[in-house]
Amino acid sequence: MTKDMEKKLVKTALEYRKRSYSPYSNFKVGAALLGKNGEIFGGCNIENAAYTPTNCAERTAFFKAVSEGVKEFEAIAIFGGYDGTELNVCAPCGVCRQVMAEFCDPDEFQIIIGTSEDNYELHTLREMLPFSFSPKELER
Ligand code: THU
Repeated sequence: MTKDMEKKLVKTALEYRKRSYSPYSNFKVGAALLGKNGEIFGGCNIENAAYTPTNCAERTAFFKAVSEGVKEFEAIAIFGGYDGTELNVCAPCGVCRQVMAEFCDPDEFQIIIGTSEDNYELHTLREMLPFSFSPKELER
């Protein structure tokens, strides 16, 4: 992935963070998922009064992409935190990591997390979810 694409994903995730529907936690998360075809899918967290139906920003982006027919991915940027203060380093939750494991090569897929356009780092999916259960386990 080029530096330009990295920056574009970061900017897109920060833009989508503004669309967060999070009246219960006020913790706003945005994501930008890059398909191998070059398409970018944005996502935000979407909360619910019943709490458990809440969807994380990362899964919103994945489900948008897959429902549009895109199932191969290169990278995702994730930014989250409260308004009015520095963003948290928002590492994806376990459920989102498992969704990534369904579609992404653990050694290739890059996860970008950080606090701003100038402060972020990249991690592979394998670093985030070692020893994972993935579709290959169900092969026979
Ligand atoms: N959240 C995400 O969208 N992504 C993460 O990686 C962590 C948590 C959301 C879920 C909930 O709406 C809020 O952040 C607080 O947990």
